[in-house]
This record gives sequence, structure tokens and C-alpha cells, in this order.
Amino acid sequence: MWSLSRLPVFGLSFLSASATILQNGQPRITTFPDTRIDPSSYSFNTHPRNASEISYKGRWDSKYVSWWSAPGIQFGYTGQIVAVTFGNWTSDGVLVGYRISGLDWIFTNVTAGGTHLFVSPETPGSDLMAPISPSIFELRVTNWAYGIQIESVHVAKGEKLIRIPDYGRRIEVIGDSLASGMYTSYEGLSSWAYGLGAGLGNTEYSITAYPGICAADQNCWGNPHGQVHQWFYTSDTSPRASVMYGDNPEPWDFSKRPAADIVVINIGTNDQNSHNNVSTTIYIDALTRIIQGIHGKWPKAQVVVMSLWLGFYQSGNTYLPNAPQGFVNEIYHMYKWFNSDDYLRNPIVYDGVTKKTLKTGKKTKPFVHYFNTTGIMQHNDIGPQWHPTDVGAIKVASHLQQFIKMTFGWEFYATGPEVFHETEYWNDESGY
Ligand SMILES: *[C@@H]1O[C@H](CO)[C@@H](O)[C@H](O)[C@H]1NC(C)=O
Ligand SMILES: *[C@@H]1O[C@H](CO)[C@@H](O)[C@H](O)[C@H]1NC(C)=O
Ligand SMILES: *[C@@H]1O[C@H](CO)[C@@H](O)[C@H](O)[C@H]1NC(C)=O
Ligand SMILES: *[C@@H]1O[C@H](CO)[C@@H](O)[C@H](O)[C@H]1NC(C)=O
Ligand SMILES: *[C@@H]1O[C@H](CO)[C@@H](O)[C@H](O)[C@H]1NC(C)=O
Repeated sequence: MWSLSRLPVFGLSFLSASATILQNGQPRITTFPDTRIDPSSYSFNTHPRNASEISYKGRWDSKYVSWWSAPGIQFGYTGQIVAVTFGNWTSDGVLVGYRISGLDWIFTNVTAGGTHLFVSPETPGSDLMAPISPSIFELRVTNWAYGIQIESVHVAKGEKLIRIPDYGRRIEVIGDSLASGMYTSYEGLSSWAYGLGAGLGNTEYSITAYPGICAADQNCWGNPHGQVHQWFYTSDTSPRASVMYGDNPEPWDFSKRPAADIVVINIGTNDQNSHNNVSTTIYIDALTRIIQGIHGKWPKAQVVVMSLWLGFYQSGNTYLPNAPQGFVNEIYHMYKWFNSDDYLRNPIVYDGVTKKTLKTGKKTKPFVHYFNTTGIMQHNDIGPQWHPTDVGAIKVASHLQQFIKMTFGWEFYATGPEVFHETEYWNDESGY
């Protein structure tokens, strides 16, 4: 959705992350360990960033710089030491979440050019053996506008990295601030998009979402392009990306990773905002081409289009959803069109880089699904900045998971490790 209050932050200091996490207007009490070390006083077994044991999650460019929301790395290791050296393209001070296997996330600020010790014998859980597999180290960037560059990965002398094979199923989430986790506690790692991927479990997930972005290819809230263009590229629409790549970003090499099985799309609240002056026709055309682009790149992917929501207002002594809800009928009609005989007999695919649109001449089976969000969140699941709260994000993620289970028969495998950090509220008095 829109991100006006955030924009000046981008302009002034996008390479250093230094906001306080606010919780209902109060600074949140956080304990982020200082993990920076002087590597010369350690004896490491060091692996270059292109070591085949390191898996990259989400979108990374040829310089090993991360983009979009909640990108990360993962690998197995032996011993009780894991450290990472970050390259100079790292946003200095950016908050990352990391964890051992299925334990809760630990957060720390990492530095450009610095080496950070994430796992040592003092790290909770580092002495525990995983029941069936080696200990797995996972790290994810919390904020979409910032990123990290991996330089090298270290374990203790005599110890080794172990490649963890990718899970057999994949989800891609395409969206704006609503999917990227804006205004949730730990941003990308508190987003419904993360909750969906992590909550299904045994699932690779990639979140190509960026605050303020439209579907339509035009400037929206400072984003130079819309998703109908940018989704085909490795980097996002951040100022960080314009500094590194200007108008010449790397196209995303779709052959680098297996195709997504399911693509969830939630985009349009910025197109809908009159500030950006996108007409309904141009919006629907862009959303249509995003879906045709997915079908071109990943012909077997199932696409789930979410209906949009725009928050609530108080009406007398209750609350009602804001109306209109944002292109509700138009999105639904587009979904029906994708399922019509006309379309299925002669589907069209789109390539956002070459801008080529072509009829494939090959019949296709229905692949576009409609996810109705009405009634999932209530007024207090949306914060004053018009974005889901942590609880709202968990509701959306949980309903989406159930929809995916019922529609595609996907089982839930995360019976433990789906962790939304600091969302454990409970009552420990039996009566008061
Ligand atoms: C760490 O990151 C958080 C979130 O961006 C920020 O609030 C905090 O100021 C940062 N701390 C340091 C020491 O950079
Ligand atoms: C990693 O990069 C180096 C230097 O570019 C190259 O020599 C080496 O073969 C690469 N290793 C792998 C596993 O790709
Ligand atoms: C960062 O840049 C400095 C200065 O150019 C260079 O000496 C250093 O090796 C770089 N560090 C990394 C990790 O890229
Ligand atoms: C909005 O779009 C309309 C139709 O394309 C155009 O006439 C108008 O000048 C635009 N307004 C702004 C503020 O860009
Ligand atoms: C979406 O759900 C709401 C609430 O159940 C319902 O009123 C509406 O008709 C549904 N929309 C579609 C297109 O099915």
C-alpha cells in the first residue's frame, strides 16, 4: 500500500538502517546481540560465497547482493561456529534474523564489510543435535529496502558446510507493502507472505514485493516501475537498486531456480490510490500481463489472485470495510476471463523484458484461482498505517495456507518451526 511516511527515509539515509522499532507508539524493548568480530583472532575454515553448499533464497544478483523482501541464505554445518563476512554493498546496520534449524529467530544488525559471528557455543541451541539432519543455519534480511552482500562463510577449523537440498515445492508471492511486511514488527519476517511460506513448511518461498509499487508500469510513490516490468528483474525498485544499477538492472534468470508451483499475487492498492492516477483499464491490463508473464516463465504454475482490502472505518457503534474495496469486480472478471474457453484455447504469454506478447497456440488447463479476502481481517487487525498488524498478518497467512491445502492438496509440514518472533502473548493468571 502507500508508504508516504517512509519515503523521506529512503532519500536521506537508505544505506544505514537506524530506526527504532515502535510498538503502539512506544519503543519496543529489543535485545539484538552485537555479533561483529575481528576475524583475525579466529581460526576459521572459510568458504567463498559461491560455495555449492550455500543455498540462496529469494532473489540475489550476480554480485551476491540480496533484493526484495526476506531474501536469505541457508546451509548445514558441523561444529558450533558459524560466521559470515558481508560485502560492502551491505546496507550498513541492517537488521537480519537468523536461527539454528527450527528454533526462534535471533536478530542482529550487520555491517558493510564486517564479519559477524552468529553461532558459537554460547548461542542457545548450538549444542543441541538435530534429530534427523545436520544443524541448519538460516539467515534472512528483515527489511525490503535494505540488503546484504555475502562475501564468505566461516565455520570452525576442521568443520564443514553441508548442502541442504531444496524442498520439493515452491511458492512465489508478488506484491507491494502489504506482502512485504511493512509496519509489522519484524517486517519481512513478520509478513503474511513469510508466514505462508514458512507455515506450509518444506517449501521454498520467494517474496517479490516492494512498498508503494503498482502493478502498472509507472512511477508510484517514488518506485520508478510497476510489477508488470520489475518482476522480470533481479533487483527491486529501491533507491539502493538505482544506485547500483541505474536503469540497467539484471534481468532475473528464471532458469537459475526451478519454477514456482504456486504464485500468490496481491497487488493493486497503490494503483487504486488516486495519488498515483492509474486507470482501471491500465491496472487490469498490467495485472493480466503479470499473470501471462508467470504463465510464460512457469507454464505449470498455479496462480492465486487475492482480492484487495482497504481497511475499515467506524460507522456509528461498529466498523465497516472501506468501500469500494479496490477493483473488486474488475479483478473477479479478469479471473473469470482467464478461466473462459476463449482464453484457455488460445492463451497469451508475456515477456516483461522484451515486452513481447504472443499467443502460444497451445491449449492450457485452468491455472488462475481467486482468493476472497473478505471477512478474514477485522478492523483491529489493521494498524493506523493501513497495514496488517502482526495478528492480521498471521490471519491472512493461515487462511491462505488452508486455501492452498484445500485447493491443491498441500499438507502442512511446519509442525513446529513456523515462528513469528515475539507473538507469544498469553494469560498466566487463572482468574482476575
Ligand atoms: C538495528 O536495526 C534496528 C531495526 O532497523 C534499528 O532499530 C536499530 O537502531 C539498529 N541498531 C543498530 C545498533 O544499528
Ligand atoms: C567460485 O568463484 C571462483 C572465482 O570466480 C571460481 O574460481 C570457482 O570455480 C567458483 N566456485 C564454484 C563452486 O562455482
Ligand atoms: C570493502 O571496500 C574496501 C575499500 O575498497 C576494501 O578494502 C575491502 O576489502 C572491501 N571489503 C569487502 C568485504 O568487500
Ligand atoms: C491523470 O490521468 C489523466 C488521464 O490520463 C490525465 O489527464 C491527468 O493529467 C493525470 N493527472 C495527473 C496528476 O497526472
Ligand atoms: C467474497 O466474500 C464475501 C463475503 O463472504 C462475499 O460477500 C462475496 O460475494 C465474495 N466475492 C466473490 C467474488 O465470491
